[in-house]
Parts: sequence; C-alpha cells; structure tokens
Amino acid sequence: MGDLLLYIHLAVAVLLFGLILADKVKAFRGLAIAASLVLLLTGAHNFMTRMVDAPKGWHALVGIKLLLALHVIAIVFLMARGAAPEKQARWRRSILVTGTLVMLIGLYYSNFAR
Ligand code: HEM
Repeated sequence: MGDLLLYIHLAVAVLLFGLILADKVKAFRGLAIAASLVLLLTGAHNFMTRMVDAPKGWHALVGIKLLLALHVIAIVFLMARGAAPEKQARWRRSILVTGTLVMLIGLYYSNFAR
C-alpha cells in the first residue's frame, strides 16, 4: 500500500510538473487542481509512513520539500484561476524552480537515501 501510494505520488507529480513545463495549467485547470489535491493527500500519507527509520537529514529536507510543494500548489491554484499574462509567466517561472527542487528532494529520498 505504501509503495503503491508512493508510485501514485510520483506519477501525479510528473503529470503536474509536465503541465507546468508545457504551460498548460490554465488550459487543463481541472486536471491541475485534481493533481494538486492528490499530491497533498498521497504526500501526507508518504510523510507519515516514510518518517519511520528516516535516514539522516530526512526531517530537515523533507520539511523543506513540503513547504516548497505548498508553494507550488498555491501558485497552481492561482494560475488555474487566471491573471495577467506577465503575472502568469512570472508565477510559472517561480514554480519551475520550486517544483524542480521538490522533485529532486523527493526522488533523492525515495531512491538514493536508503
Ligand atoms: C507539487 C507537489 C509535489 C511534488 C511535485 C512531489 C514530488 C515528489 C516526488 C517526485 C517524490 C519521489 C517519489 C518516488 O520516487 O517514488 C516524492 C516523494 C515524497 N513526497 Fe512529494 N511531491 C509533492 C507534494 C508533496 C506533499 C504536499 C508532501 C507532504 C505532505 C509530500 C511528501 C513526500 C514524501 C514524504 C515523499 C517520500 C520521501 C521518502 O521516500 O522518504 N510531497 N514527492
């Protein structure tokens, strides 16, 4: 169950990051919002289950990952609602940066740290 939810988290993360990369958050706003909510729920589950026997630095970095992920999700909600094009572009650039960090920290702890 834990592994399955981790894989679902990964698949949905790739989907959401793909939408951001392709600049399609507004066009597929329902999908982007649903993906954000699934990431929040599966992420909360991963957080509780993967905390057991956490490797060195896990709490600090995964805590930062969580905060950055909340930034990504908040901006995705704003982008889904829509705003002036310059604002949309600036928002998208900011979540390309934070989203990349979130992906890298998650992938590191899931695949290399234990
Ligand atoms: C924008 C939203 C998010 C993205 C892009 C994202 C991305 C990822 C990725 C790519 C992984 C690695 C999965 C794997 O290799 O199977 C991961 C793992 C994880 N994520 Fe997320 N995530 C997001 C939101 C969240 C949230 C909101 C939480 C917490 C509430 C969370 C907690 C975790 C935890 C605990 C892990 C496992 C770390 C470990 O294996 O020790 N994630 N995430």
